[in-house]
Amino acid sequence: MLADARRVVVLTGAGVSAESKIPTFRDAMEGLWASFDPQSLATPEGFAADPETVTKWYDFRRMKCREAEPNPGHLALARIERELESRSREFILLTQNVDGLHRRAGNKSVVELHGSLEVWRCTETGEEFRDLPAPFDTYPPRTDRGTVLRPGVVWFGEMLPPEAIETAGERLDTCDLFFAIGTSATVYPAAGFSDLARAAGASTVEINPDATPASGHVDESVRARAGAVLPEIVELAFGAGDASPRGGNG
Ligand code: OAD
Repeated sequence: MLADARRVVVLTGAGVSAESKIPTFRDAMEGLWASFDPQSLATPEGFAADPETVTKWYDFRRMKCREAEPNPGHLALARIERELESRSREFILLTQNVDGLHRRAGNKSVVELHGSLEVWRCTETGEEFRDLPAPFDTYPPRTDRGTVLRPGVVWFGEMLPPEAIETAGERLDTCDLFFAIGTSATVYPAAGFSDLARAAGASTVEINPDATPASGHVDESVRARAGAVLPEIVELAFGAGDASPRGGNG
């Protein structure tokens, strides 16, 4: 399917980063953070009440993610993008992950549906800053003008960025192959993506060691770890060749 596909959409979730040992939101709430309630750390109300604690928490997670490395699953997805691009075929990666590992692995066509730990946004102007030095000197961090920065992630009760949803919808409407990888397929709107792709006539594939609510609706449900099976799929589709991490020979 991948060898013949012309317009590929990949949706990823926390499972793709599991093999890089990225703690999930809940797993990260350990040690120092174990006594906190998710509502107080990941909502606009929690931030308004205690911006210092909330930004410390996101800075802690940002640094954890910087310590992690992309795994063979991430690298295989980066190779899929390179191979399709070199054949003038379309590829887009829609991710629910905020860890930035897809970009670090070499994917360029990435839509971060839930934002990124590497993006911080001015609470007054909306201006976004990426890849700021870590850790911050003060909490909450501030711009040079002294205005407060908030994490550029989507909190509970917030809308996904409209342009991300629009791009996802356009690509899903025209794709001919859709992968859902490492996602429990329970959180909307991403949970509905495989049905949208199927309605557009695409073949649909799920990669997950466990069954999910989407398993019964896809053409192929591959019960395996992403880091184990994605390199095999890529090799079958495109041959052994370019296994080099992060952007090939550049
Ligand atoms: P979940 O934690 O809900 O699901 C992770 C999925 O990955 C599960 O179905 C696992 O079976 C699967 N999995 C585990 N290890 C894997 C591996 N090595 N290879 C492939 N799959 C593996 O994470 P998401 O689906 O990403 O939202 O959750 C979506 C959103 O729900 C998150 O982004 C977060 C959460 O609430 C927000 O923070 C807004």
